[in-house]
Amino acid sequence: MEQKRTAKFNLGNSDQPTEFPILSGSMGPDVIDIRTLHAKSGMFTYDPGFLSTASSSSEITFIDGDKGILLYRGYPIEQLAEHCDFMEVCYLLINGELPTVDQKVIFVESINEHTMVHEQLVRFYSGFRRDAHPMAVMVGVVGALSAFYHEALDISDAAHRELSAYHLIAKLPNITAMAYKYNLGHPFNYPRNSLSYAENFMHMMFAVPSEEYKPNPVLARALDRILILHADHEQNASTSTVRLAGSSGANPFACISAGIACLWGPAHGGANEACLAMLEEIRDDTRIGKYIDRAKDSKDDFRLVGFGHRVYKNFDPRAKLMRETCHEVLSELGLENDRLFKLALKLERIALEDEYFVSKKLYPNVDFYSGIVQRALGIPSSMFTAIFATARTVGWISQWIEMISDTQLKIGRPRQLYTGVPTRAVVPIAQRK
Ligand code: CMC
Repeated sequence: MEQKRTAKFNLGNSDQPTEFPILSGSMGPDVIDIRTLHAKSGMFTYDPGFLSTASSSSEITFIDGDKGILLYRGYPIEQLAEHCDFMEVCYLLINGELPTVDQKVIFVESINEHTMVHEQLVRFYSGFRRDAHPMAVMVGVVGALSAFYHEALDISDAAHRELSAYHLIAKLPNITAMAYKYNLGHPFNYPRNSLSYAENFMHMMFAVPSEEYKPNPVLARALDRILILHADHEQNASTSTVRLAGSSGANPFACISAGIACLWGPAHGGANEACLAMLEEIRDDTRIGKYIDRAKDSKDDFRLVGFGHRVYKNFDPRAKLMRETCHEVLSELGLENDRLFKLALKLERIALEDEYFVSKKLYPNVDFYSGIVQRALGIPSSMFTAIFATARTVGWISQWIEMISDTQLKIGRPRQLYTGVPTRAVVPIAQRK
């Protein structure tokens, strides 16, 4: 962080401008450092929804929403998706550099050491209803991991932080797959460390004891890509939740559980499930116009799910890659004429030419396609957000490690603009009218 200039404001009734440092990062917009604003003026800034606020500095992920750029540790997402697998991306997000061949071998071995979950944790599942939503199960089970690793919860110890990261990255596919198997009433599958991360995830979700299961490499590659594209995304709502929870010194498992809870919402990670439900509801292309009209009607709260993004105002680079994967997966499975995919393409075309969507800079986001890919992989829509959570865990934990390692860390404590009743006296009950 470098300070080059200052910003001067006339605050309140003062004629004298108050000066604030302007800080520059390595890329992206400069920020006005207003940490001394309250001390200097007695005022707060007001920015609900963080439309103009950088909540932290970070070296992990960079987004330029106008240009459609997404970088993990400086590498464009397109190149990572083409040349790397998810394990390399995990190593990159945590350590800041891509691994060499030897480093990758050691990293994968370290992750593989922790893919199994404690048998006692397995028993948690029978406490849930069979029809429990997988995200409900995950919020509970991931938070409960903190009850299993007391000996490694000293967050001031770098080795403990790394071990927690490995536990989470290694166990999430298993925890997610168990949530699915529990819904189905199938037995749980133990992980197979001879398989890649994505293949192992598929094995735990789809294998049954009565049959051989061999993951299809094209489909495993598609799942791996879903994991890469969802691995991190700067200071989004769930990552900010993880940071805020972590700023109090809460343990990493509790923080990631908080992130999962936030991700569940339909405006965030729940969008791919909601998008598929919307496509099913639209049903055929003759009804697209009606739904476009509804999305444009300010009196109707219906939104075209999978469209729009707080940051991307030109295109979402992840959507482009996911669209490609969608083609690959559907052609591998002979589903080129898949009804929902064709409907999605048509809806996309119509919306992209519509003045409302163009003027508001609403483009398809990653979730417009990820639901169709996952459905083709045989994953039910109720599992989509859980897959997203599995992928995002590495981003959350990398951001948590970065935050905890910062010696300047302060608990996150926003203030407010109070709009309630001003000070008044309590009237004893007998005198109240
Ligand atoms: N359909 C119709 N209108 C929309 C849509 C949409 N999908 N998205 C935004 N708008 C309109 C909105 O009504 C508003 O209009 P007006 O200016 O007349 O009030 C304007 O566009 C700006 O919308 P906003 O809600 O102020 O924008 P935001 O940056 O706060 O919201 C968003 C971003 C993603 C929550 C929103 O675009 C949305 O609800 N999209 C649908 C849900 C979705 O696909 N979410 C997945 C996001 S990508 C996955 C992830 O990163 O988590």
